[in-house]
Amino acid sequence: MSLEFDFKGIRLKNPVIVTAGEHGRDGKTIREVAASGVGAITTKTITNIPLPDPLPCYAKIDNGFLNVVLSAVHPAEQWFDTDMAEAKKGGVPVIANFAGSSPSESAELAKKCEDAGADMIELPTHCPHLAENIEAQIPEIKLPPPEIYDPKPFYETVKAVRKSTSLPLIGKLSAIFHLNTKNWVKAGVDAGLDAIEVADTLGPVMLIDIATGQPKLGGPRGFGGLSGGALKPLTLRMVFEIAQDFDITIIGSGGISTYKDAVEYIMAGASMVGVCTVGHLKGIGAYTKLIKDLERYFDENDTTLEEIRGLALKKVEQRKKKGLAAITKPLPPEITAERCNACGICERSCIYGAITVDDVVHVDSGSCYGCGLCADVCPKHALEMTYYK
Ligand SMILES: Cc1cc2nc3c(=O)[nH]c(=O)nc-3n(C[C@H](O)[C@H](O)[C@H](O)COP(=O)(O)O)c2cc1C
Repeated sequence: MSLEFDFKGIRLKNPVIVTAGEHGRDGKTIREVAASGVGAITTKTITNIPLPDPLPCYAKIDNGFLNVVLSAVHPAEQWFDTDMAEAKKGGVPVIANFAGSSPSESAELAKKCEDAGADMIELPTHCPHLAENIEAQIPEIKLPPPEIYDPKPFYETVKAVRKSTSLPLIGKLSAIFHLNTKNWVKAGVDAGLDAIEVADTLGPVMLIDIATGQPKLGGPRGFGGLSGGALKPLTLRMVFEIAQDFDITIIGSGGISTYKDAVEYIMAGASMVGVCTVGHLKGIGAYTKLIKDLERYFDENDTTLEEIRGLALKKVEQRKKKGLAAITKPLPPEITAERCNACGICERSCIYGAITVDDVVHVDSGSCYGCGLCADVCPKHALEMTYYK
């Protein structure tokens, strides 16, 4: 099934977008990444005066990724002179992500991105490690702490940029705004955004190498931003909350590495999905696989993106209507004995001692707490929770 669709007059082959990251670092890279078959590619954040990245700039955890990279490698003028044209040779719509130091500088950059051939414009809101790395590299600069609770500066920037370009305009929320997501979205919508991308990395975060005691990342304190799978439950919830209250196109981003992650975001209300960390860890083939798997998912389930978009919102409405919003009476899992391979994972993870495994799993309904963990950890789907069946 074709996943082609139209966003504000721009034809996208599919809803999978490479979000700002190293695959958007310069024009040549974007041209090469276009071969992966993605729907659109975002530039790394373009600035007038890019700074070199503190090194080392990446660290990996089990289900996540830390980075302390700063902005696109080339200065804005080079993007307007050559990079944007080179990026466009890939034949995939290019989203120009940029940051100015004031609303007027942002408006000027937006106009220049449009003139240089960008197809869409994206405004980031906050990078968790940027300020202290700028201060470390240029000691005469002192930056104020981030405005986490006041979206007014964002509103002003979106408004100024909206006036300077007719291109589709995306606002990209930082995961740091997760406790007041709606205020930020409202400010962006009031100022004229066409779409909201949720979300950028969460942080600052850090890791320490216990062999040396050194923070793993470079920079003054080794602080960076968290992305990848560990971020997904947070950013997924932000997407869901926005979809509940706003009628705006949402690009879900945070920990998407397989088609299943993408489907979750769509069910939470996203119309497009963003990929970044997976490409850093597995290369652009991961984007191609995700798109193919997504197509197959829609074919096999005989459904469409529109049909499943926001499905989770409908389900929580049903919970309310059916009086299932506060289940507290334990319901033990249903067992399909033929599927059990007696691996014992469920027994070890049952903190209530309700599970025993001999040649097959047994659940003692008297001590079962109904928590659902056994069903979640079972690799064979031999246990199933049925609260909402
Ligand atoms: C190495 C790296 C560089 C990034 N650079 C930018 C950037 O320049 N501008 C921006 O808005 N977001 C940037 N991001 C955030 C990503 O675009 C994305 O929103 C975030 O990482 C969550 O998605 P993911 O878990 O798929 O990576 C970067 C992320 C990573 C991992």
